[in-house]
Amino acid sequence: MTRSSSEDLTETMDTKKLAERLTEAGQSHILQFWDQLSPEEQAEMSLDVENMNFIEINNFFQNAMKTSGQISQEKVDNRMEPVPREVLGSVTRDHECLKEWEKEGLHCISENKVAVLLLAGGQGTRLGVPYPKGMYDVSLPSHKTLFQIQAERIRRLQQLAEKQHARKCCIPWYIMTSGRTMNMTKEFFSRNKYFGLKEENVIFFQQGMLPAMDFNGKIILEDKGKLAMAPDGNGGLYRALGTQKIVEDMEKRGISYIHVYCVDNILVKVADPAFIGFCSLKGADCGAKVVEKTNPTEAVGVVCKVDGRYQVVEYSEITLPTAEKRSPDGRLMFNTGNIANHFFALPFLKEIVRTHEPQLQHHVAQKKIPYVNPQGQLIKPDKPNGIKMEKFVFDIFQFAKTFVVYEVLREDEFSPLKNADSQDGKDNPTTARHALMSLHHRWILNAGGHFVDENGTRIPAIPRHGPAGTVTPEVSPNLKDGTDLPIKCEISPLVSYGGEGLEHLANGRAFQPTLTIDENGVHELVKNGL
Ligand code: UD1
Repeated sequence: MTRSSSEDLTETMDTKKLAERLTEAGQSHILQFWDQLSPEEQAEMSLDVENMNFIEINNFFQNAMKTSGQISQEKVDNRMEPVPREVLGSVTRDHECLKEWEKEGLHCISENKVAVLLLAGGQGTRLGVPYPKGMYDVSLPSHKTLFQIQAERIRRLQQLAEKQHARKCCIPWYIMTSGRTMNMTKEFFSRNKYFGLKEENVIFFQQGMLPAMDFNGKIILEDKGKLAMAPDGNGGLYRALGTQKIVEDMEKRGISYIHVYCVDNILVKVADPAFIGFCSLKGADCGAKVVEKTNPTEAVGVVCKVDGRYQVVEYSEITLPTAEKRSPDGRLMFNTGNIANHFFALPFLKEIVRTHEPQLQHHVAQKKIPYVNPQGQLIKPDKPNGIKMEKFVFDIFQFAKTFVVYEVLREDEFSPLKNADSQDGKDNPTTARHALMSLHHRWILNAGGHFVDENGTRIPAIPRHGPAGTVTPEVSPNLKDGTDLPIKCEISPLVSYGGEGLEHLANGRAFQPTLTIDENGVHELVKNGL
């Protein structure tokens, strides 16, 4: 199709305006290959940069560099204090309160006051799949994806609250995606009929993106006509909540409490009633769920106080000597490991979006960012050549008036999927699958069931009595090839949210793995190659 002269004229004027804006911002180099681009590539690039505020981006860069410099100079480590006991609730140490917290949480859910919000805008670089992490199948017997497991936990929890309070209720699910994950995520949900949830209660919204910059603040080109863009961190949440009117939607629905969590934890207790109930009974505006960090180099942030204010010191920002510090009881001094499960009361969230969001600083990550050099060649650097800027979801803890921390057991609630499978690897599909099956194995034992091998011989559970008085097999009994393999056992979230309701199915019964329990009943797959 030939283009009219008026179209050409508009384009020239627009390009001129764009060039002026870029020169003003010191970013004119991004148009250096303009004349070599096809009209389609030019149009695409114009579209990409049209709505970008380069002055703001330059400011972000300057502030981010200033603060990251300060952090290393002033050593955040020296100002860190552990979380005091009085703000801490623990499923083990406060076991006698658990029932009350759970009751309160279920009551809030039954009154439609609780929403969940999933952070799913990350690129999953470490896992290395070309689709959103929530679509990952860790090869459970059912082959359910992370999204499906979470959706079914929401459905089951709604049922539990409805049953207890004899009224219909709904837990809206807000899903934050990014430019990189939005279309695939939405399409996946639609293809799977929202996993049985009502479409109007699954609300997608999109976080912002920022360009990667070199150490001089120049935007990096990843191709002649393409800026190197990345999502602006999971703290991009707060801006997105405002620009996309999500807070208004929550208000309209009468939400009071929001459980925010990351996509990658296969054990996540979505809208955990005990956590919600604990935070609500404490009158908290903000809360964080943690597990005990036992290894100083584990890649989890630690919840602590810095200069008297709560915050998470990220694993990339703590020094080894501080991470290794121990209390007199031998435990790590900074052992409140952040598992990225947060509680927010809606008025607090509103205040953040309206007032504090612009004050949040970007964190700087130095990265090896592929770029095109002035000769137009694509270069893959072997050392960091630039930075990505990200806000972090927990950076608003500092504004909380009543902040609480809720400690749970790692084996019950935390097994993140970060990396691809590899020998001796951790936080990968195999560890996630094993963690879930081992939890479900324990549920069967607690419900009075047990497992037998192919000869009918009882498989010992090697039980340990956990602090909560429950049976906790530490090591899997199903030993083959000298490796610890968990008993293959999977219970659908539609049958049990947290181990409840299994007695009538399991008590006094012997099962031969692979055992699966779903809404159609109990299945034993004797021949399994899973
Ligand atoms: C995160 C926590 C860390 C915690 C660990 C536990 C943050 C900043 N860090 O680290 O303290 O100990 O989980 O597993 O929360 N995401 C977005 N948009 C983005 C970037 C990420 O939505 O721009 C989402 C991801 O999809 C994911 C979550 O945020 O659901 C965490 O992102 P990830 O980069 O995996 O965080 P970690 O470095 O593992």
